[in-house]
Amino acid sequence: MLLKVAVVTWVIMTVTFHSCLGKHTPCQDPSEENLEAQIGRLAPAYHLLVEKENITPDRELKKCPNALNQTSDLIQDTSISPWSFRVNEDPERYPRKITEAYCLCKGCFMTPNEEDKSLISEPFLMRVPVLQKTRRCVHGHYKYRLTYVKVAQFCNCHLP
Ligand SMILES: *[C@@H]1O[C@H](CO)[C@@H](O)[C@H](O)[C@H]1NC(C)=O
Repeated sequence: MLLKVAVVTWVIMTVTFHSCLGKHTPCQDPSEENLEAQIGRLAPAYHLLVEKENITPDRELKKCPNALNQTSDLIQDTSISPWSFRVNEDPERYPRKITEAYCLCKGCFMTPNEEDKSLISEPFLMRVPVLQKTRRCVHGHYKYRLTYVKVAQFCNCHLP
């Protein structure tokens, strides 16, 4: 009898302990594959809009050059408002890393060897679909919802 009570008590305690533990298991991020599938379903143009496969973002940001590189084949080098690319990172978003343009200069090159500071280099922004992490946890995984963020694509020269 005493043994039965002990066993029952032990079972109840173990079950209670495990269900408590279960409640405190931290919520996890869905896998990359799941997030990829989710955004592909919600925003089919995602790949076209967000991925820039042929571009290597700068590790060290570039400074404004003294002169335009007129021998370069790259439009971002020969543009009167030159730009380059960097990584925009956000751990609460999918994709975590987005390649974005940044302007190299404040002004523009109206002549190849001189930055004209009376003009302004400005990024051209485009809204792109991403998934934003929410605080909601379903079946042990955080929910992500579709949203749009503005991402610089290239730089343009503007009058002030
Ligand atoms: C100009 O651009 C070319 C091609 O990208 C590169 O090889 C060269 O080093 C650049 N010159 C300068 C001065 O940055």
